[in-house]
Amino acid sequence: MSAPNIETIVSLSKRRGFVYPASEIYGGLGSSWDYGPLGVELANNIKNSWWRWMVYERDDIEGLDSSIIQNRLVWKYSGHEQTFHDPLVDCKSCKSRFRADKLLDEFGSKEAQEGRHHLFVEPANFGTTQPPQENWLQEIRFPCPTCGEVDWTESRPFNLMFRTTVGAASSDEDGSALAYLRPETAQGIFINFANVLNTSRRKLPFGIAQIGKAFRNEVTPGNFIFRTREFEQMEMEYFVRPDDAPHVHQEWIDGFERWIASLGISANNLKLYEQTKEVLAHYSERTVDILYRYFPEREDEEKQWDELMGIANRTDYDLRVHSKKPEDAEGKRINPDSTEDLSYFDTATNERFYPYVIEPAIGVNRTLLAVLMDAYTEKTNEKGETRVILKLTPEMAPIKVAVLPLAKNKPEIVEMARKIKKELQHSMRAVYDDTGGIGKLYARQDEIGTPFCVTVDHESLEDNAVTVRDRDTWEQKRVGVDQLPEYLQKRLD
Ligand code: GAP
Repeated sequence: MSAPNIETIVSLSKRRGFVYPASEIYGGLGSSWDYGPLGVELANNIKNSWWRWMVYERDDIEGLDSSIIQNRLVWKYSGHEQTFHDPLVDCKSCKSRFRADKLLDEFGSKEAQEGRHHLFVEPANFGTTQPPQENWLQEIRFPCPTCGEVDWTESRPFNLMFRTTVGAASSDEDGSALAYLRPETAQGIFINFANVLNTSRRKLPFGIAQIGKAFRNEVTPGNFIFRTREFEQMEMEYFVRPDDAPHVHQEWIDGFERWIASLGISANNLKLYEQTKEVLAHYSERTVDILYRYFPEREDEEKQWDELMGIANRTDYDLRVHSKKPEDAEGKRINPDSTEDLSYFDTATNERFYPYVIEPAIGVNRTLLAVLMDAYTEKTNEKGETRVILKLTPEMAPIKVAVLPLAKNKPEIVEMARKIKKELQHSMRAVYDDTGGIGKLYARQDEIGTPFCVTVDHESLEDNAVTVRDRDTWEQKRVGVDQLPEYLQKRLD
């Protein structure tokens, strides 16, 4: 079983402290969310798992943490200033505003969706844009989902980068102070390619990994933490010889299927999607998305899926555009502002070239949502009551063990329980809880995914043993306090 819909997870998250609406006491801020005490632990577990798998368990990947605000030229030459747009349309009748391609994906027939390329501004040549060809929604008589009228504006490109100004004397009108909040962490990696290459004395193939915030002024954010304007990405740029790119691309697709499965996500709720030419990003030759079934309640099976992550072959696009040397057809430097050439010299073959890049990019929010949805189960107890159990893997569980005193008015029991918690906290995330009766405490820990509860009772004072309760089976086992850390660690591993 997994969650029947995202709403179930929204309510569990608020009730138990995974995720809260941001700025809630001031009425909220459209599609912004804060991670609560359990959410921050789960997000950290996801990031630690990714970092360990990506950086520590391999010998060919270095880490990086680059700035959120970079020189504006980074975004000029990356192509984001010119092409990082979504097609925006307004219903002239009810004034609702939509992202036109998503509108077709969600409400359009297959024929309407096939014409979605009419909505996009073509990136054509670097540094130029072309207007969309026609008013496609009007042409296909597409009704507004809000009011049902067919009265659309033309689709127009809306740049998703958040703008800001840098420096005390700057004003909004001062173009020289204009800067952007990064819309992807990847560019920080490309512009540090030579730094990392030289300081770590790497040879191809090698990768650079980064986890950090990205910002996009999304036209239609929503579906809880699925699409937000501020989110965290885990990205890795893997630099290879151009000939090796296709098969390395496939290796990373296979690798990520395995890593995602290791988070406890069922293969039934995952599938691959090969991006079509119309939706490929301006830098990509081929992108394969891994989709998760975020919308199981939708009748149309095709519409149950959405992107968890993308794995792109970015070719040598990024290293070239940030380099001072490459020239266009007329012999003009493509980038007269860069002071660096980001090409690579292969000492074995005496060749100089721009490496190709394979990029697996995954969002922390979307991973966390998929992990929560997939772990969600319900179970009926002997009284006929339905209980929620979050079957998180031990690695993902925000709390590994809860130590509970059976009688909180008995000081010796409380003291023993607190002492056990203190001993366990050296090796695992442990909590002490005496805020309710034992049944309520078990139910709470089941609902937040804690794999084990340890109960200290009257007998514990005599036999120096405790009851260990398993979240998934509700089975109980008596374990000596001396063996407890080792016993729990073994079961968690
Ligand atoms: N550097 C490539 C890149 O940024 P992307 O497909 O635009 O590619 C990568 O983003 C991942 O970041 C997505 O697969 C998704 O998991 C996450 N992501 C993108 N936009 C997001 C948003 N508005 N809210 C939450 N996560 C988002």
